[in-house]
Amino acid sequence: MNRRYRKTVIAGNWKMNLTLTETQTFAEELRPLLSRSKWCDVVLCVPAINIPNAVRLFKNTRVAIAAQNVHYEDHGAFTGELSARMLREQGVKYVIIGHSERRQYYNETDFTVNRKVHAALAEGINPIVCVGESLEQRELGVTLEHITYQVKAALSGVPAEKVRKIILAYEPIWAIGTGKTATTQQAEEVCQAIRTVVRKLYDARIARAVTIQYGGSMNTKNAAELLAQPDVDGGLIGGASLKAADFAEIINAANQE
Ligand code: PGA
Repeated sequence: MNRRYRKTVIAGNWKMNLTLTETQTFAEELRPLLSRSKWCDVVLCVPAINIPNAVRLFKNTRVAIAAQNVHYEDHGAFTGELSARMLREQGVKYVIIGHSERRQYYNETDFTVNRKVHAALAEGINPIVCVGESLEQRELGVTLEHITYQVKAALSGVPAEKVRKIILAYEPIWAIGTGKTATTQQAEEVCQAIRTVVRKLYDARIARAVTIQYGGSMNTKNAAELLAQPDVDGGLIGGASLKAADFAEIINAANQE
């Protein structure tokens, strides 16, 4: 983390977990655990159907509500999809774009990721763009090339003044939901490389200001060490964000000076 230049953001990605009733219980449990300190922003990416209730449940707290996906068109014949404007009107502040599960199961491509980034930005929603290599790519030694390509594709056509609204989340696919976390060195190496890509595409000032998260089996045990890396400005947390006590512990780890 480097709070002098950029925001620390801890985001919980609930995926297809927690019903409305469970969300209410989670909110009741988390509220008293949220520390008053303002060192980091807290985001919860909830299932779309629970967004309006989650916004209500976390009103007047530090928790911003996020969606897990968005369509790239503004409106139209896209059965089952939601537009950025629909999300914005419901109080959504962030949206995950290009999570590896969506790339893998729902044909999300670098092209659609880029279009979704533009759609979200047009409505003032902050994209959380996920990039990450497979185990095969890591073993082949092409991690940095792959990440560079994904970041460049995601940012294509994004004007300099909007880049700071984007969070880039480095999520090695082999670490997601597997209990296998990247080492602090691996996380830092890739997050630093992502910042270098942003610097080359834009400039040093913008690269310094952009928030880069690590995601992939981040939990109460490893969060502090990962967040201590200079280029890791937060976490995108799946499994460990489903329990209020664990999520609060990770937020507190990010709140340490
Ligand atoms: P995990 O998921 O923390 O359960 O590994 C992270 C993510 O997919 O964003």
